[in-house]
Formats: sequence, structure tokens, C-alpha cells
Amino acid sequence: MADETSARRFQEKVVLLTGAASGIGRATALRLAQEGATLFLADIAEPELESTAKEVEAIGSQVHAQRLDVSREEETEAALAACVAHFGGLQALCNVAGIIRFAHLADTSFEIWRRILSVNLDGTFLMCRAAMPHLLESGGNIVNVGSTAGLSGLPYGSAYGASKGGVHALTRALAVEFTHRGVRCNSVCPGSIDTAMMRPDIPEGAERRLLARSSSLHGPRGPERVAELIAFLASDEAQHISGEEIRIDGAALA
Ligand SMILES: NC(=O)c1ccc[n+]([C@@H]2O[C@H](COP(=O)([O-])OP(=O)(O)OC[C@H]3O[C@@H](n4cnc5c(N)ncnc54)[C@H](O)[C@@H]3O)[C@@H](O)[C@H]2O)c1
Repeated sequence: MADETSARRFQEKVVLLTGAASGIGRATALRLAQEGATLFLADIAEPELESTAKEVEAIGSQVHAQRLDVSREEETEAALAACVAHFGGLQALCNVAGIIRFAHLADTSFEIWRRILSVNLDGTFLMCRAAMPHLLESGGNIVNVGSTAGLSGLPYGSAYGASKGGVHALTRALAVEFTHRGVRCNSVCPGSIDTAMMRPDIPEGAERRLLARSSSLHGPRGPERVAELIAFLASDEAQHISGEEIRIDGAALA
């Protein structure tokens, strides 16, 4: 049921959202639906993606859900083509899909390193590149999900931190290249958000005090908090904000 009191900032707007099957992506889909968005939802986890799509439908929004591995170039291009074919255009791209794996450096195989970079960084790049012609046409915008791990060192998370630092740098580069042509690009940097990702396997021998360095000072918060921030940045209320990375981490890195 739509929240009658919420703003309807996304009425008549099409948003493509990756990582929509769970956590922050699912919460963002529901938030945008409550604000009237037409949603193209994508993820690799198909059954969970379908259940997000059903929740969005129940709110009353138009939705299309499609399996997408963001690390596969041809799939990203096909997803953008499908979105435009379904809904006639695109006003915002939210890149939320991501993976993490904790490991000591010596146990971080090149394969794991490549996979994390491939989903988190290549996937974000591929989606931005495929979406840009449509965003230039609509005067739309991009919100990428980075991480506090891309701003400060995350022990046992070298690949993840490198991928998220890359996402922030990519976002700034695109903001400088495209803001004057009408497309804003921002990233959000969450920390301590209570999702499946917050419960990873910690490697044996890991020092908990190092892991605790970037913990929120008021404890974890739900994914809805990040969804609110993504919705704000993707909306016209943020029309003079571009090239920004906004921490949402309960003062962890303050
Ligand atoms: N939870 C936190 O504290 C936290 C902190 C910082 C950043 N983040 C970032 O927030 C984003 C969402 O994470 P979350 O916490 O909601 O975790 P999550 O695991 O619940 O969600 C991640 C989603 O990405 C999807 N995904 C994974 N690989 C994919 C691929 N190749 N193609 C398409 N979809 C894929 C998963 O199926 C899942 O639905 C991620 O980018 C994550 O790095 C989370």
C-alpha cells in the first residue's frame, strides 16, 4: 500500500535499478514505487527479484523485472534496450548490485579479486555506459552505491575496498564529463546497513578490533535509510548535486 503522505517525486519517471532482489536494492525499489516511479528491476537472484516485483506491483507501480548479471557486457546492453522498449525512456539509473568476500590477502585468489572487481566496478561502468545515451536524452541522473570501504581501509576486504574506491572515482569522472550536458552522477557510501551483506564469513584469525574501526556509532540501521538517500539524489530535489559522495554510516568515518 502506497504511503499517502510521501512525496510523489517519481511520477512519470522510469528508473532502472540493479540489485533489486534484496537489501538496499529491494528497499529502494519499494521507496521509489511509493513515490510513483515506473521501475525496471534487475538482479541475478531471480526468485527474490520476482518477489520484489510483486511487492512493487502491490504498491501500484508499473514494473518489469529481468535477470541481469551486471558483469556481462552484452546483458547490460540488452537490459537498457529492454527498459527503453518497455517504458519508452529512462530518467534514472541506480546501480546497487554488489558482492563482498572477506579474506586475508594471501587467501584472496586472483579469481576472487577479479569477480569482485567485475561485479562491483565493471558492472557499474557497463550500466552507466549503456544508460548514458538515454539519460542524455531525458536529462536524467545516476546514483551509484559505493561504500565506506572505498573511503577508508577495510581489513580483509582489499578487493571490495578497491572496487568501491573505483566506483567513487568513476562517478566523479562521469559527473565532470556529463553534468554540463544535463546528467548528474552521485554516489552514496553506506556503512553498517543491516542486510545479508553485513553477515559475511569472517576469516579465521581476523582481528575483530580492526573490523570494528568503521562501525556505525549508533549501531546498524535498516536498508530503508539508504533507500531514502538514493531516492533524494535521484529526484529533482537534488538538481544542483552532482559529483558528490555521501556517507550514510552513523558517523563511523566522521
Ligand atoms: N550492507 C552494508 O552495510 C553496505 C555497506 C556499504 C555498501 N553496501 C553496498 O550496497 C549494495 C547493496 O548491498 P546490500 O547490503 O543490500 O546486500 P545484498 O547482498 O542484500 O544485495 C546485493 C544484491 O546484488 C545482487 N547481485 C550480486 N551480484 C550481482 C550481479 N552480478 N548482477 C546483478 N545483481 C547482482 C544480489 O543478488 C543481491 O540482490 C552493494 O553494492 C553493497 O556493496 C552495503
